[in-house]
Amino acid sequence: MIPLDPAALPSLHVVTHPLVQHKLTLMRKKDASTSSFRRLLNELSTLMVYEVTRDMATHDVVIETPLETMTARQIDGKKLVFVSILRAGNGILDGVLSVVPGARVGHVGLYRDPKTLQAVEYYFKMPKNMEERDVIVVDPMLATGNSAVAAVTRIKQCQPKSIKFLCLLTCPEGVNTLHQTHPDVHIYTAAVDRELNDHGYILPGLGDAGDRIFGTQ
Ligand code: URA
Repeated sequence: MIPLDPAALPSLHVVTHPLVQHKLTLMRKKDASTSSFRRLLNELSTLMVYEVTRDMATHDVVIETPLETMTARQIDGKKLVFVSILRAGNGILDGVLSVVPGARVGHVGLYRDPKTLQAVEYYFKMPKNMEERDVIVVDPMLATGNSAVAAVTRIKQCQPKSIKFLCLLTCPEGVNTLHQTHPDVHIYTAAVDRELNDHGYILPGLGDAGDRIFGTQ
């Protein structure tokens, strides 16, 4: 696999902030406990959401400070939807919602059919009025990219204004697969690791994110 050059792909955003990198390193360690893994994921999600919402639209509102009236900027958090890809995506929700509490939440559940290897939907629930909303899909791991492609394809049927993809870790295979099918979807990640192994795990990676979040190893 040829290493991916993030600079050559403008829709790929690698968040290199030292706090993000430090917390990701702690999460990668195999002896991190379930509680510390979950806490670090929560902290990392709050940091990453600043980057993924950097270009969010704001509008002017007139407010009263204790001293005078002023015009100030405000975002409309209710127009934002975080869509969690079950189940590991749920580990990101608390962190992002602590920063954007007015956002709505959708869920997509997919499993891989063992015969056809295609992603099959078993759950899909979105807020109303999706055509007015900007979507940020969340999943800690963008690995093969197959679930991401299936989730984004399905969400696009609801015609949201925009879709971004927020993960912690990805690899060249995942980025290429998502980008080839959905070049309009910007990807935000803390790292692009070396490769996928034959079982669809990212190397060096951090293991099975869902198992590590929920303690189901
Ligand atoms: N999903 C995970 O949880 N980990 C990987 O490495 C790949 C997919």
